[in-house]
Amino acid sequence: VTIRLPALYEWLTSEHSETTSRERINALTPSIIRVCLERIPGDFVELGCYRGATSVWLRSVLDCIGDEERSIHVFDSFQGMPTPKAVDLNHVGEGDLVASPDDVLEIHRRWGRKPPTVHPGWFKDTLPTELPEQIAFAYLDGDFYDSIMVSLEQCVPRLAIGAIVVIDDYADVVRHPKAWNGLPGVKQACDEFFGLPSPVQPVVTETDLPFGIYIHQGHAK
Ligand SMILES: C[S@@+](CC[C@H](N)C(=O)[O-])C[C@H]1O[C@@H](n2cnc3c(N)ncnc32)[C@H](O)[C@@H]1O
Repeated sequence: VTIRLPALYEWLTSEHSETTSRERINALTPSIIRVCLERIPGDFVELGCYRGATSVWLRSVLDCIGDEERSIHVFDSFQGMPTPKAVDLNHVGEGDLVASPDDVLEIHRRWGRKPPTVHPGWFKDTLPTELPEQIAFAYLDGDFYDSIMVSLEQCVPRLAIGAIVVIDDYADVVRHPKAWNGLPGVKQACDEFFGLPSPVQPVVTETDLPFGIYIHQGHAK
């Protein structure tokens, strides 16, 4: 079944504006397409899927470019955010953003898409045993230091060469002084995980929403 991406884009950016936006989808989509064009092997994962807005976008873009066989795995506590550390500030708090696996299934049903495999639970409990063996694309949207750290620890060893990791809310205010910096634990976790100079490329949208993009060139010998 074909899907009209512009209709989904319009619907997501009006009905799911809490967690997605034109700028977010615009920033994410070229990386999704690049992984497919370059035939990078592995599954797609989203760590922190909430109600499934980005999940259904990932599925729809893959289906549109004829990559229907590619599997998607999504992870969330479905109990909202965990306890923040001091570095996480108070943009979102413990217990915020509660969704359910049914929300994720329902949004896929609504748009006639095959649902992803949904993995409910805290990342530290699910990721070590439930992540797919090989990952081509990962969207890390766990917001807090600890959530991003465990996401990196568990995903990076499974990345295929050429795989892309998009990290939401990664603000490099030295490179982009106007970048929104409400979740500084995200970049701190990346810096500690990868070391400096960081291989993560900072990107900001027209409205100063920040992202980090990491392209996996291989594992250190
Ligand atoms: C900003 S929302 C994700 C939005 C989603 N990516 C979208 O595009 O609509 C962050 C989600 O991460 C989840 N989360 C954060 N830290 C987590 C952890 N350590 N384990 C499991 N889920 C976590 C929260 O439950 C929340 O639903």
